[in-house]
Amino acid sequence: MIGIFDSGSGGLTVLRAVREELPSADVVYFGDIKNAPYGGKTQAELSVLTVQGLSLLKARGATHLISACNSVSASLALSLVDALDLAPNQLVEMVGPTVRYFKHADMRLALCATPATIRSGIYQNGFKMVGKEVIPIAIPDLAAAIEFGKSEAEIKNMIETALEPHRSAFDALILACTHYPLVADVFQEVAGDKVTVFDPAVAVAERAQKLFWPQEVGNGTTRFIISQESEIFRERVRSMFGLGGEMTEVVK
Ligand code: DGL
Repeated sequence: MIGIFDSGSGGLTVLRAVREELPSADVVYFGDIKNAPYGGKTQAELSVLTVQGLSLLKARGATHLISACNSVSASLALSLVDALDLAPNQLVEMVGPTVRYFKHADMRLALCATPATIRSGIYQNGFKMVGKEVIPIAIPDLAAAIEFGKSEAEIKNMIETALEPHRSAFDALILACTHYPLVADVFQEVAGDKVTVFDPAVAVAERAQKLFWPQEVGNGTTRFIISQESEIFRERVRSMFGLGGEMTEVVK
């Protein structure tokens, strides 16, 4: 069974891509809404939440894990793999597959993410390793606005304010927070149609397929666990996967 971890409903965008690549895998999803947003937390806080989130998924039977939350990627040090008794090929994160995807691309890159992700420098360092520069753009509060259902006008305003200083400086815009692809059309509208808006879920799902298939052939079941009740989460599960509320469990 594949376990997918995120701070809330953002990882549903990763699940959507994983479903394309591994339709028959059984999946258990954990969204830690009680502790969301993650994007303003310190590295130490995020390390604790990462171990808790991934441990919960393991305890529920996950044999392979996708850490969909970009904000915790810097916490996925080798020591964590040891702490959770995982082999490296049991864990997929967001940064490696994304960097690899653009390795040979002849494009000027920009990357939007939470302050925690940008502060960690993990994407900037990853791109440096393949000889590329990326413009890092933190958008404070955007993930929370999406998670907790702020209006499209407020969301658009936040994106405009963040992108304005970098206008015309990039050809591809990487949405390096799983919540952002939920409003990909707003990003596209603000960035303009000359810009390629990229959802890393595509690259991550391909990596998961390579690593997890054929071990993860099952019955195609999907279960959801959240740490706080959320009608918005349940509605997203309904609209994105056609699954009813009985598939979502709230843990305290
Ligand atoms: N969606 C997560 C990420 O990819 C975290 C967003 C948040 O909770 O601030 O970074």
